[in-house]
Amino acid sequence: MKGVVFTEFTDFVERQMGIDMVDRMFDESQLASGGAYTSVGTYDHREMVALVTTLSRLSGTPVPVLLKAFGGHLLGRFLIGYPAFFQQAGSLYAFIESIDRHIHVEVRKLYPDAELPSFSARTIAPGVMELDYRSSRGFADLAEGLLVAAIAHYREPVSLQRQDNVPEPAATRFTLSKAV
Ligand code: HEM
Repeated sequence: MKGVVFTEFTDFVERQMGIDMVDRMFDESQLASGGAYTSVGTYDHREMVALVTTLSRLSGTPVPVLLKAFGGHLLGRFLIGYPAFFQQAGSLYAFIESIDRHIHVEVRKLYPDAELPSFSARTIAPGVMELDYRSSRGFADLAEGLLVAAIAHYREPVSLQRQDNVPEPAATRFTLSKAV
């Protein structure tokens, strides 16, 4: 997992819970890398799992809630760092379709060793889009947080439903429905 995700996570925790919580989270997580992350480095994604699990224990907030909130923070950072991705899309559904086809493709050019999930999007009825998230790293909560923040950014009347463990091939399925 790219260091930029870890440095953004550290920033997120500091903003939400203060620097002391950041220090305790690092002190109490067994991190092979020692936690000295640089945004261009590459680290085992299990260190992110260890950090979120420790933060959950220290803060009393469940891991899925923390990852969804971090997803919201991350989208805000992507908006500042990569505004063109959002402007080019022009609408929420066009943006979501561009994640796999364009955005993560550009990310892979930037970070050839990036570990990116796959997303397959399809319109199943007027105003209804299904999005299947697949990844061996299991960050569906992070994906959900990013999607909820994208819906808020585009200010479209869209509801989001989630179905875990969709079989063959295994995926988490998000269904977005536009209010008519
Ligand atoms: C709603 C839109 C997006 C969603 C749902 C999404 C979802 C995700 C998820 C879930 C991951 C974690 C890796 C995994 O699960 O295997 C990820 C990684 C990543 N995404 Fe996206 N993403 C979105 C938009 C973006 C945008 C706009 C950028 C900015 C250029 C971006 C850049 C990245 C980067 C750099 C990583 C880390 C890859 C790594 O650690 O190796 N994503 N994305």
